[in-house]
Amino acid sequence: MQLENLSGSANRDPDSVREFFNGWSLYRRIVDNDYLYHRSVRESLAAWLDGLDHPFSFLDLGCGDAEFSSGLLKGRHLVSYTGIDISPVALDLAEKNTRDLTAPCKLHVGDFLMSLSTLAESYDLIYIGLSLHHLTRAEKEFFFGELRRKISPGGTLLIFDPVLTPGESRESYMGRWVDHAEWAWKALSLEEVTGAIEHVTTSDYPEEITTLNHMATGAGFLPAEILFMDRTDFYALMAFKT
Ligand SMILES: C[S@@+](CC[C@H](N)C(=O)[O-])C[C@H]1O[C@@H](n2cnc3c(N)ncnc32)[C@H](O)[C@@H]1O
Repeated sequence: MQLENLSGSANRDPDSVREFFNGWSLYRRIVDNDYLYHRSVRESLAAWLDGLDHPFSFLDLGCGDAEFSSGLLKGRHLVSYTGIDISPVALDLAEKNTRDLTAPCKLHVGDFLMSLSTLAESYDLIYIGLSLHHLTRAEKEFFFGELRRKISPGGTLLIFDPVLTPGESRESYMGRWVDHAEWAWKALSLEEVTGAIEHVTTSDYPEEITTLNHMATGAGFLPAEILFMDRTDFYALMAFKT
């Protein structure tokens, strides 16, 4: 399928995603309070990276401020780091956060759906942290093919994303997610929680793991190995090998 044929089916709004993440400080507070389970995901990813026996290039799609990835990658056998993000505000912070990485770093501003195919290189590891769900189902399906073309032989696609439980609808997921955020995100003001809920309920399109597996295997990846699933069944960290 061609990218231009997807535009009719797209009901996502990249401008509103960019606007939300340009107000980076709210997202930072959510992460700092570990409301999205970054600590456990970092531990799981670190353990997985410990098992790699070769240096690797790393493509970080939706890298944000790159705080998560740079912390994970510091001190590892990194060949190169490339980050892409739609938010210039996040990328300015990423520029600072990646300074300590010893490998060459490149940062690109733009929509990764459009820009992935323009990258000249392929990558041993491609990581997508909490941003795949901003694509519609048709876009995700197309994107898995693009991702497969950008993975080096023997490489792995790592995805950390919200996932629907088996048989769950988007509406049902959003209902329990909103209940959870309103009840558990006590360190945030009412206004901040409302802002986060507005973003998630209008811009997020989580899929079931079986749906992601179907897309991934159709593109030539192996089915996911689940590296982490949070206790509330909202998020999963998955490794798709080639
Ligand atoms: C929830 S944040 C995750 C940031 C970081 N990966 C992490 O795990 O903390 C999602 C990031 O993806 C970016 N993003 C969302 N859709 C994107 C797209 N289509 N192209 C590029 N970046 C995108 C947002 O600007 C934001 O920085």
